[in-house]
Amino acid sequence: DKGGHRHFMAKEIAEQPHVIGEALSHYLTADGRDIALPDTMPDFAGVDRLVLVACGTAYFACVTAKYWFERIARLPVEVDIASEFRYREPPVADGTVALFVSQSGETADTLAALRYCADKAAHVVSVVNVPESSIARESGTALPILAGVEVGVASTKAFTCQLTVLYLLALKAARQRGHLDADALADRLSALRSLPGILNHALAQDRSAKKVARKLAEADDILFLGRGLMYPLAMEGALKLKEISYIHAEAYASGELKHGPIALIDKRMPVVVMAPRDALFDKTVSNMQEVMARGGKVTLVTDEAGLAEAGDGVTHTLVMPTVADDLAPILYAIPAQQLAYHTAIAKGTDVDQPRNLAKSVTVE
Ligand code: F6R
Repeated sequence: DKGGHRHFMAKEIAEQPHVIGEALSHYLTADGRDIALPDTMPDFAGVDRLVLVACGTAYFACVTAKYWFERIARLPVEVDIASEFRYREPPVADGTVALFVSQSGETADTLAALRYCADKAAHVVSVVNVPESSIARESGTALPILAGVEVGVASTKAFTCQLTVLYLLALKAARQRGHLDADALADRLSALRSLPGILNHALAQDRSAKKVARKLAEADDILFLGRGLMYPLAMEGALKLKEISYIHAEAYASGELKHGPIALIDKRMPVVVMAPRDALFDKTVSNMQEVMARGGKVTLVTDEAGLAEAGDGVTHTLVMPTVADDLAPILYAIPAQQLAYHTAIAKGTDVDQPRNLAKSVTVE
């Protein structure tokens, strides 16, 4: 049932405020000031290193989480694609927690990487959407993301629910490791509770995204740029676009632009810049200006403050509500999804069942 939407993907994009709210009510304590995790969950105070492993969109959720765990919880994080991790035979020491993220819970490479870590006696945690899945069953602790059934092959609500649960884990880790006091944690959780309302404002920008997407649909190649937390989000935006619109898209950390990809810039390759007005904004803007100086056509996804500061000369803008810096990846996922969705519609592709793709990748 598409709930009145044209595609499951549209329905699932629209469900995000609700399902994120569900995940928050599941994990927050009754007074809303702390995060409740199962007893099997190790205390992060005794953890030396966290290994995050997944495939595809779930991997980009992991890359985002690395920024949170390292900055907020001061916990060293290694993040890898499951198909690389499993064959590299990496050392997994005592004191390592291995965390696997999977919507389906059946992805063959992720499951194999999990078994490798379980054999090495690492504590295995999974963040999954399907609680009865193989990955959940074989984990020491399985944490549900509560996104509900995701039908569209391109992952949308599972991604933002994965981010929400990973952010909660980073906050819990910060609290247990002495980097966040009880009041600071409560403040962050209260900001998080206002997120579903903020996401609704982003969803309301759908018409603007559709207009931009009509232009993107004319391109053969599209570049996504972002820094810090917006870098993994840029990668997710590029993946979403290529899998459903079949337009070649790739993402770069904007600081890498001058190390090669800037050679590609011309007026025919649109550049999508994801940049809330955060501490790295000026750096990203200077990269964006380098693009525009070479005739590149920029779509800037930012907030009011960012637009006021850097809107000049930009071809298109998508204006997001203001949000706490650490929550921006969850919010900016929405325009990334909308751009992909409307570009695919403009191209006439099969949005919910893109060619060559399966919802659950149970073979390597
Ligand atoms: C992208 C997408 C895939 C999956 C990947 C992992 O939209 O859906 O990249 O994210 O195949 O799948 P799970 O999360 O089921 O392990």
